[in-house]
Amino acid sequence: MSAAMNIMIVGGGHMGSAIAFGLKRSSADMLITVVEPDATRRNDIKNAGISTLEELPSPLIADVIFLAIPPQAFLGFLENNARIGRYAGIVISVMAGIRIRELTAHLKNSQIYRTIPNLPCGVNEGMTVLITAAETTTASNIVVNQLLAKLGNLLELKDEALLDSATALVGGGPAYIAYFAAALTEYAISAGFDKSSATSIILQLLHGTTAILEQRKEPAINLCEKVMTAGGTTERAIDWFNQHGVRAAITEGLKISCARSIELGQR
Ligand SMILES: NC(=O)c1ccc[n+]([C@@H]2O[C@H](COP(=O)([O-])OP(=O)(O)OC[C@H]3O[C@@H](n4cnc5c(N)ncnc54)[C@H](OP(=O)(O)O)[C@@H]3O)[C@@H](O)[C@H]2O)c1
Repeated sequence: MSAAMNIMIVGGGHMGSAIAFGLKRSSADMLITVVEPDATRRNDIKNAGISTLEELPSPLIADVIFLAIPPQAFLGFLENNARIGRYAGIVISVMAGIRIRELTAHLKNSQIYRTIPNLPCGVNEGMTVLITAAETTTASNIVVNQLLAKLGNLLELKDEALLDSATALVGGGPAYIAYFAAALTEYAISAGFDKSSATSIILQLLHGTTAILEQRKEPAINLCEKVMTAGGTTERAIDWFNQHGVRAAITEGLKISCARSIELGQR
């Protein structure tokens, strides 16, 4: 891939800026421009050494355009930026719910990729799932695979229907882990730990648990069972979680998140 690749990211919110930061960290000489209407966000991105624009430029020159605006803003964006319909380069959408068919039709372009990334892309530890439109070229596929791999792990799916589950699982995933971490922190502080000690304990718990799961490659529940000495303290907590349907509530929450992704695609 050319070192001077020209990347434009439309939408400099949480996801768009994470992509910009991750790409910049991985390839300092990549030309990255973020198009973001909000002046404060533009300023934050500029302060990180990334070029910004208030609006889509004319002429539109980029090797790859990421669309990282809210799905609800997509049709309005097309109305106000008709020139994107003449752009023949690679477009990578990260918008939840908007199908390849709709993207291809509205953008009048065949080099379309639909992805669901997540916020750890900003520190090159992301997980991205990818669906490729039917008529993309091999050259475009190579560029997109190499580019997305810079942000962390990449999984290409063949079945677009799975993207709604991926939206719940991959896009939302860091939120669920952070939600659980917030509950642990809340407990630690209520038990008397100061904020700094609580934070460092929880971070090490996340880090150590990930490390052992990665090393042993066993199902997560095996680790859970190993910590649960019969008649001991952890068993009490896990039994209480099970009696109160915590595990079932998590899987139900993800199903509801997936349903919202389907709903966003049916506007
Ligand atoms: N957050 C995640 O973890 C995550 C994960 C996977 C996928 N996604 C997808 O990523 C997209 C962005 O999500 P987000 O969480 O980053 O939302 P966000 O923080 O609200 O960011 C969206 C940004 O797009 C800007 N925007 C809106 N219309 C625009 C336009 N016409 N031209 C340029 N910029 C425009 C918004 O600016 P204003 O606020 O000024 O309108 C805002 O800064 C969504 O489609 C979402 O489904 C997000």
